[in-house]
Amino acid sequence: MTDQADQSRRNFLYVAAGGLGAVAAGATIVPFIGSMLPAADTLAASKTEFDVSTVEAGQLVTIQWQGKPVFVVHRTPELLKQVDGHDDKLKDANSEAIAEVQQAWMDTPEARKYRAIKPEYLIVVASCTHLGCIPLFKPSAGRKDWGDSVPEDWAGGWHCPCHGSYYDLSARVINGSPAPHNLHVMPYEYKTDTTVVIG
Ligand code: FES
Repeated sequence: MTDQADQSRRNFLYVAAGGLGAVAAGATIVPFIGSMLPAADTLAASKTEFDVSTVEAGQLVTIQWQGKPVFVVHRTPELLKQVDGHDDKLKDANSEAIAEVQQAWMDTPEARKYRAIKPEYLIVVASCTHLGCIPLFKPSAGRKDWGDSVPEDWAGGWHCPCHGSYYDLSARVINGSPAPHNLHVMPYEYKTDTTVVIG
C-alpha cells in the first residue's frame, strides 16, 4: 500500500468512527429526551372527568383526582342562600388569602363567594387545610340535625372532626377554626354542559 493509499484508508476509518459515534449519541439522546416528556397515560391520570348531573340536588359525592378525594356538591337554591349573611364570621370571605391557588375565573365578587364556575356545583379538594382530615358535610342550618357538634348559629357547611374546623357551604373557613384557609378549589373546566375535567 502506498503512503497516499494508507492515509486515505486512515481518513476513512476516522470518518466512519466519528459517524458511528454520532449515530450512537443520537440513539442515546432521543430516548433520554423522550423519557423526560410525560407519558400519555400519565397525562390522562392527572385529569379526572366527571358528570356533575349525576349528583342529586342537595347531595355530595366524593370522587378521586390524582389520588386525592374531591367533593362535588349539588347546591340547591336554598343551599346557595345559606352562603349569604355571615361574611363577618369568615377568615377569607373573598377567597383572597392564597393567590397561587385561585383560579382565573374567580374574577367577580359572585365567583369568589360561590367559588364555583357554575354556582350550583361546588368542586373542592376534600382535605381540611389544617392537617388534612376529611371534613363532614352538614348542610342543613341550625342544630336540629347535628346537635352541639356545630355552633348555634350554624349556616350549614362542613365540620372537621379532627380538631373542630368549620367551613360554610362555599367551603370558606369560619373564624376560630384551626384551619388557616378555605378548602382548595383545584383547576377544572366544563367540557360539556355537565361534564367537568378536573386537573
Ligand atoms: S385537620 Fe381539620 S381541624 Fe385539624
